[in-house]
Amino acid sequence: MKNEKLSAILKQALSDIEQANSLEDINAVRNRYFAKKSELASLGSLISSLPDEEKKDFGREMYETKTQIASSLDEKNQKLAALELDKKLQSEAIDITLPGRGANLGARNPFHIIIDEITDIFLGMGYTVADGPEVESDMNNFELLNIPHDHPARDMQDSFYIDENTLLRTHTSAVQAHEMQKYKGQPIRVICPGKTFRRDDDDATHSHQFAQIEGLAIDKNLNIGNLKSTLELFVKKMFGEKREIRLRSSYFPFTEPSVEIDITCANCGGKGCPMCKDTGYIEILGGGMVNPRVLELNGYNPREYSGFAFGVGIERVAILRYGIDDIRKFYQNDVRFLHQFKKR
Ligand code: PHE
Repeated sequence: MKNEKLSAILKQALSDIEQANSLEDINAVRNRYFAKKSELASLGSLISSLPDEEKKDFGREMYETKTQIASSLDEKNQKLAALELDKKLQSEAIDITLPGRGANLGARNPFHIIIDEITDIFLGMGYTVADGPEVESDMNNFELLNIPHDHPARDMQDSFYIDENTLLRTHTSAVQAHEMQKYKGQPIRVICPGKTFRRDDDDATHSHQFAQIEGLAIDKNLNIGNLKSTLELFVKKMFGEKREIRLRSSYFPFTEPSVEIDITCANCGGKGCPMCKDTGYIEILGGGMVNPRVLELNGYNPREYSGFAFGVGIERVAILRYGIDDIRKFYQNDVRFLHQFKKR
């Protein structure tokens, strides 16, 4: 015989649970049936007033009713929790199918791209890379390169002076003196890229700050053929196999003989056009055999050693490579200019 009150409570509880639509509802139902002052609790306290023979059945029924309510509460609780989690995940979901916003990467100044390319070519020929100070002594920039105080060559290389004997270097050739003193009479193969400065009125083709790559090779039995073949290889790697070079006699106090090196014009292939001023050639660098006087001044015996040196204008190479029309663009950092050299 079932206790009617218990059956009614169970029925009501199961229907309450059925109707619960949220975890909050479920908690309310749980409280309604299991609170200290619930109908079930007060029914339970009646047990002591029952005749002994009914106590056992009533107790068991009470236990079963409670367990049944509790387990349906748990079951529904789990279902609702899962549903609510699903809802939350959906509402907080990030749509990873949308295309991302790319990082706005900058571009390298073509100036640095060219330095890296030239450096790579000379590293391949066994040269090492040297560095030198931009603030230089008169000694290294001029005297040790056979340009004494009263030498007219200084006129073309006026600079920014810190004091009478200290200046912003006018060419990377100053590094020649540093390197010769460092290698102390041993063979040398070095290049040195770096900034250089000269007093100048800036315009499309002049800049008071510019950059060069110096090259210096010293060894036994080096001759002008070695200079020519080295620069020929460099030019072909830098500007293409079809380019030819031409050595024109020139003058630098620190080289003897001195040459200007021209390359055939890319525009007309050497026939002559407005770009090369009808000569078929474009001047690209200066160089020559290291003047024996310079070897001597820097601790090398010119009867034992000979060498060659050259200086390449970095902006000039970049201008020729990319068709840039104004040298100032290298130093203004205008992003519209720089972005044209972005790697794609
Ligand atoms: N230093 C020279 C210049 O600035 C270039 C050069 C370098 C010439 C090395 C000969 C040897 O014009």
